[in-house]
Amino acid sequence: MKKDEKPWGGRFSEPTDREVEAFTTSLHYDRRLYRCDIEGSIAHARMLAKQGIITKREATAIRTGLLAIRSEIEAGTFLFHPDDEDIHMAVEKALTARIGEAGGKLHTGRSRNDQIALDIRLYLRAEIGDILTLLGNLKAGFVERAKAEMGAILPGYTHMQKAQPVLLSHYLLAFREMLDRDEARLRDCLKRVNVMPLGAAALAGTGLPIDRRYVARILGFPQVTANSMDSVSDRDFVAEFIFAASLVMMHLSRFCEDLILWSTDEFGYVEIADAFTTGSSIMPQKKNPDVAELIRGKTGRVYGNLVALLTILKGLPMTYNRDLQEDKEPLFDTVDTLQASLRVLTAMIGRLTFNRQRMETGAGGGFSTATDLAEYLVRKGVPFREAHGIVGRIVAFCIQQGKALTGLTLKEFRKFYKGFEKDLFQCLTVRQSIQARQEIGGTAEDTVRRRIAEIEGR
Ligand code: ARG
Repeated sequence: MKKDEKPWGGRFSEPTDREVEAFTTSLHYDRRLYRCDIEGSIAHARMLAKQGIITKREATAIRTGLLAIRSEIEAGTFLFHPDDEDIHMAVEKALTARIGEAGGKLHTGRSRNDQIALDIRLYLRAEIGDILTLLGNLKAGFVERAKAEMGAILPGYTHMQKAQPVLLSHYLLAFREMLDRDEARLRDCLKRVNVMPLGAAALAGTGLPIDRRYVARILGFPQVTANSMDSVSDRDFVAEFIFAASLVMMHLSRFCEDLILWSTDEFGYVEIADAFTTGSSIMPQKKNPDVAELIRGKTGRVYGNLVALLTILKGLPMTYNRDLQEDKEPLFDTVDTLQASLRVLTAMIGRLTFNRQRMETGAGGGFSTATDLAEYLVRKGVPFREAHGIVGRIVAFCIQQGKALTGLTLKEFRKFYKGFEKDLFQCLTVRQSIQARQEIGGTAEDTVRRRIAEIEGR
């Protein structure tokens, strides 16, 4: 085969248009699959030899050749030709140039359609493994922080309005729960990634006596795909992965949004370490939470990848279509973005300084213990709806008087309900409010400590 000749060139009478070549190539991004591609090819050749389709000698030559190519790629000495369509062709061409005729036998009983499906599965399986580790680290980071900040009080918000006091640790553990679900989703997705598609060939399987289960065993796949047509057209597992990644990013983004808000002068609940912020080119006083903002922004980009892939898949006729080549950039970008975001956020969490005083002061404002007062009345036998009305009128009175709930006298309270007693003042404190929420999932310190013990398997 001559240098610029295509492996499929047999039935063509003129070379590919240069513009078309540049338009159709995926080599500049799918070269990152080289390791998986070579691993898959070595397994395939081994199977061909076991089945007597090629000789043992040829399989050995193929293996040695492929490993040499892998070393060259890793050393940066491998020459990628722009007229190679993709990583599969680049490697196969280099192999044939290196070992001669045996190289031409590697593609026996397979097609690039099942080859690329295998490569993506091998690639994604490894990357999900890495992402699970990173997720585990971030989860541990939240738990560490929750332990370190035990006792610190945070105003809890609904509708971005001060609602009820909570422990900062309780808030931090909420993110740990989200990431726990993310982890479970990725593990579940991994089950569908971890299926071996090779042997589907172009779409119909091959008439040659191959052994798919053997290839699966070599490559560590617990299962082989059950339908050759589905094998080459399926990218569900990629869509699923990007969706799972989108949810992780969404969780990170929501935490980042709180950090951005809380690090403002107006809130002042948290300070992000200098190493994790950047300055302004004009305003010397500025310290910006760019990392948090970028994670928030990159979340949009990952959502975009999901929509791109779903749109590519929509309406594709069976089975393989070249459109599917467009799955890789959204996939790679999602992997890169997610991994980088997880890494930087994990590092940043250890470099936050919470301003306990400010948070606690904030937690006392905005009548945040009004619900505790209503619950006090419920304990006195007042139906909750009625109690809600009584406390509502008390709050309105306080607003009118410019006072806090704790600023009223018992006599004033009794104007709204005769049964109020001196002990009502206990339930108005922020600490008491938190302490009261003991049931599973609540923010009482003992409950939060128990949850941490559970998480740590104690
Ligand atoms: N580069 C292609 C892709 O990523 C590989 C499969 C090409 N198959 C084909 N028949 N053109 O989808």
